[in-house]
Formats: sequence, C-alpha cells, structure tokens
Amino acid sequence: MDMNPSLSRRGLLAAGGVALIGAASTGCTATSTSTGTNSMDASTNSLQATVNFDGEHQPGISTPAPLLTTFVGMDLLTAEISNLEAFLMLVSDDARRLMAGQPALADTEPENATEPGSLTIGIGMGRPLFGKLGWSIPDQLPPIPAFSVDALDPRWGQTDLVVQIGSDSPLALQHAQRMITKDVSTVARTVWVQEGFRGSLVGSTDASRNLMGQIDGTINPRTQADLDDVVWINEGPAWLRGGTVLVLRRIRMLLDTWDELDPEAKGIITGRHIHNGAPLGGEQETDPIDLGAVDGRGLPVIPANSHVAVAHQGGERILRRPFNYSIHEADGSTDAGQLFAAYMKNPAESFIPLQERISTLDSMNRWVQPIGSAAYLFPRGSQPESFIGAELFTG
Ligand code: HEM
Repeated sequence: MDMNPSLSRRGLLAAGGVALIGAASTGCTATSTSTGTNSMDASTNSLQATVNFDGEHQPGISTPAPLLTTFVGMDLLTAEISNLEAFLMLVSDDARRLMAGQPALADTEPENATEPGSLTIGIGMGRPLFGKLGWSIPDQLPPIPAFSVDALDPRWGQTDLVVQIGSDSPLALQHAQRMITKDVSTVARTVWVQEGFRGSLVGSTDASRNLMGQIDGTINPRTQADLDDVVWINEGPAWLRGGTVLVLRRIRMLLDTWDELDPEAKGIITGRHIHNGAPLGGEQETDPIDLGAVDGRGLPVIPANSHVAVAHQGGERILRRPFNYSIHEADGSTDAGQLFAAYMKNPAESFIPLQERISTLDSMNRWVQPIGSAAYLFPRGSQPESFIGAELFTG
C-alpha cells in the first residue's frame, strides 16, 4: 500500500526518527513486484534498464559493474538504535523505488527517476557503528591494520555507514544520492562522498582500463560457485548470511612519474602487457599466469615483484570492482587514482594478508599510494516489504 500522497514527506522527515520509521514502513511495499534475485530487466533504452532491489544479496556487488559509482560515507547523528533502523528503512524504501525507475516518496524531482540506468543502491555498516550502539562486532569485520605503504588522509577514513550507489546514468545517480542524503538527514550526516567511473569493457572479461592504462579486473570470481566461495557470508546470524564485506581503499596514482615509463616497463611492473592485458609470457588476457616460467637467462618471465606476481602468489581471493577517480583540489593539483572496492567473506583471510604482501613486495608501490581506507559489512539483501538489516531489530 502506498503512503497517503497528501501527507508531506518533508513534514514527516522533520518530525524525527519515530515518524520516519512509520513513514518508511508504510511506504515499503509500494513498488516491490519481484521476489527474485537482483536480475536485470533490460528494456529498449538502456537508461531504462532496472535491477531488482530485493533478493538474497544486496544489489551492486555481483550485478554488472555500472559506469559510475558513488560511495557516501555517513555517521549517525546520535547513537540510537531507532536512528539506525530509520536509516535502513528510509534508504531501503528509496532504493526499492528509485531502482525500479519510480520516484521516491515525496520525490521533489520525480521526473529524474524515470531513467535509472541500472541503478543499484546498497548499505554497509562500519565498525564504529557497532561500537556506538554497544553491539558486538561480527568476526567478519576485523580492524584493517595500518600498512607500510599507507599515507592515509583522515578525510577519507572509516565512517559508521556507507551508501553505495551505482548507475549508468549520471542524472539518476545524482538524484538517488540527493534523495537519500536528504531523506536521512535527521538521523545521519554525510562525512565524505567518493565518486568513481570505469572505462568501457575491454578484452574478453568484464575488466576495463584504469587511469594507468592497465586492463584491470581480469582475474575475479564470476561463477555462482566462486561467488559463494569468495564473497557471500554463509554463517552466523540470518542478517549476515548472504551478506559480504566491502573494503574500500582510495589509492592515489602518481601518474606524472608513471607517464615517464614506456609500455614495456609498465608491463614489467604490472606483470601483464599493457596493450591487451595478457600475462607476460602469454598472448591473451585470459591466459594462465605462470609464475614458474623462466626466460633464456633463467630469470622469471613474470618478475617476482610485479603486481600480478605478488598479488597472485598467496592464493587469496576477493571480488575486485575497481573504479577510477579524479578530482581537482583547491590548491590546483589533481588527485587521481583508483577507488579500490573489493568484496569478500572476511578480510582477515583475504584482503589483509594480500595487502600486507603487496605493501612490502610490490614494485608498483612507487606509483600508487593508499590515502583512504574503510571497511563495511553489507547485510544480506532485503525481502519485499522489508528493509536491509531488518533481522537486526526482531529481537
Ligand atoms: C591503484 C592500485 C591498483 C592497481 C592500479 C591495480 C591493478 C591491477 C591490474 C592491472 C591487475 C591485473 C589484471 C587483473 O587481474 O585484474 C591486478 C590484479 C590483481 N590485483 Fe591489483 N591493482 C591495484 C591495487 C590492488 C590492491 C590494493 C590489491 C589487494 C590488496 C590488489 C589485488 C589484486 C589481485 C588479487 C589481482 C589478481 C592477481 C591474480 O591472481 O592474477 N590490487 N591489479
């Protein structure tokens, strides 16, 4: 049942958390028509394509990577469980409607909702949130330690919550971001916004070029079995099962000095050819990585300190969804690099040992520098007429 249109949503939003919960719960069912997984419904115009909000997993993780992404880091205004519940309900309600190409409740620009461009919206919860609410932190969300390569700027640090928005339409993405941050403004504030874009898909996988010119995203879990193995949590309480952990790192690229290298040198540092992404010693992007292969002088064909060799050798697996970013700073400089977004069951078993090895061995460290770091637990996907994380509040 839809909410009474004569009620002003703005009035409800101004009325505070309790009214918010009521508003969100009455509006939650309006556009939910599907009970399936986050399958895509491509229509004639690709900007009208939609992804289902409801499903076993939150959308925007294993669904095809969008052209554009925005991560909005937010903190609760006050550490009250009712504020978190209102936040999760409101974002879920907005997400379900906007992803379906429908306006949000009391949408101030409903026309901007009609072409969602495969809009996806998801919510993650950071360690500080659990601490503030007095809840124990799930084992799946360990602290991310400091790494020797880090030059972290607190501007891009850990927040209570993150809203992850992806779309192929800049307008739909901006509209969703604005509606959501406006709607939750009585319970949460925006700390940072990190915007990213990907290049067009290249090669034989769903990888794309990054700002260093590399084909990025070749080796990734893709089959259902691989995703179950690597990404989706399958133990613990109900709200966690089907969820995952996002590690979001903002990694600046030192492009001026990278540009001084020729393609061959870039390939040696990467461990793959720049022009087609094939591993050194191979011909195609998808050729296997042979770390044991040696050249005529007995030297490894893929140098042991190349990025791929260092990343590959430990066998840790994560789902990488890298996006490029580039912003103009007030001092006239450009901050450009990668929003390294990776999903996994537990960073303690994958990202942390991987990043530790990369920090000490990877020759690419001369050209990249992590300046932001945060991690979030993404609860399982929402059910129709419910909201993300609902099981947390059922006693
Ligand atoms: C700006 C920073 C980074 C850039 C430009 C970059 C670039 C690349 C490229 C071009 C590849 C080869 C193609 C592919 O399989 O995707 C690759 C592979 C990989 N990278 Fe990165 N990467 C970066 C940061 C990281 C970080 C921080 C991690 C993890 C802590 C990581 C983990 C991996 C893994 C696991 C692979 C696949 C290795 C394999 O099994 O072959 N990368 N990366």
